[in-house]
Amino acid sequence: MTARAATKPRVLSGIQPSGILHLGNYFGAIRQHIALQDRHPGQALYFIADYHALTTLRNPEALRANVFESAVTYLALGLDPARALLFRQSDVPEVTELAWMLATVTGMGLLERAHSYKDKLANGITPTVGLFFYPVLMAADIIAYDATLVPVGKDQLQHVEIAQDMVTHFNEAYGPQDPVLVRPEPLPARAAVVPGLDGRKMSKSYGNTLPLFESGKKLRKLVGQVVTDSTPLGEPLPFATCNVVALLRLFCDPAELAQLETWYREGRRDGAPFGYGHAKMLLADKIEQLFAPARARREHFLTAEGRAEVEAVLARAAIAARALAQQTLERCRRACGLR
Ligand code: TYM
Repeated sequence: MTARAATKPRVLSGIQPSGILHLGNYFGAIRQHIALQDRHPGQALYFIADYHALTTLRNPEALRANVFESAVTYLALGLDPARALLFRQSDVPEVTELAWMLATVTGMGLLERAHSYKDKLANGITPTVGLFFYPVLMAADIIAYDATLVPVGKDQLQHVEIAQDMVTHFNEAYGPQDPVLVRPEPLPARAAVVPGLDGRKMSKSYGNTLPLFESGKKLRKLVGQVVTDSTPLGEPLPFATCNVVALLRLFCDPAELAQLETWYREGRRDGAPFGYGHAKMLLADKIEQLFAPARARREHFLTAEGRAEVEAVLARAAIAARALAQQTLERCRRACGLR
């Protein structure tokens, strides 16, 4: 009944398919997820959180399409199915059973303090029991696979801490001498929370995202919507508080940033007036360049042959992930007296 001996670290993370994945997801999570498959080959698990997406998305066709697109995005960005598992959350229904068990040892106060829930309410999202319960399901996602490392963006850190609390409560209740569950540790991304077009956190639920694979005119039009103040062309621009700069920081090295700062301070570049429009063009170019190779790989996964490959990757990974979750569930059921 003992928790899995901590032989090798096990990495786990998830992403919601509630819309097209965006720069916040990439810099806050996906980039790190893909790097970790090299450091922990065979021990990295990533899933597409379709149960979670039900809290905001009620369109079955859109959900199916988003799940597929999320899988394609990971594969195009370099997820290697030989080193990491990529699967659908709902292919492992055991997590919902574990969520129930965890809920029975979780105080209401723990969930009432969740920032993400409070932010969503403050932003006018109608709360459901599902939205409130969300951190319990997320804890189950982590705990079901005995994950020890959870790479997430800074906005999700509190959820991982909540999962730690649940492990403590469950182990205190059912395994004080012989812990049943493994304690996960968060692995926060280096990047700060990525701002969206309007300066709030970039988020599918706020409709302020920049997708990864847009290009050409469409991308330039979207980048044009990044909110700035009304400083006229050629005047000094506020570098420290500018939303365009906050996004450019993700792409630029220190020398490029120093150069940009000079252009902002002077409102001029090479003797010519420099304004927000120019900064936005730089940003669009950076996005286009960074994701060009992945955009090309994505095209392959959208062909009939590529689609079949994606489905096969998800199906194979689901079998392996489910086997791990079943072992944890068996320990939990025995510990609680359900067997
Ligand atoms: P989600 O889908 O909102 O985001 C997926 C990952 O992207 C990061 N992220 C950001 N990072 C920086 N700036 C942003 N603007 C930004 N937006 C998103 C998130 O921190 C996250 O790492 N609850 C999770 C999904 C989930 C999960 C889990 C994660 C479900 N179960 C278990 C880890 C472990 C979520 O909604 O992420």
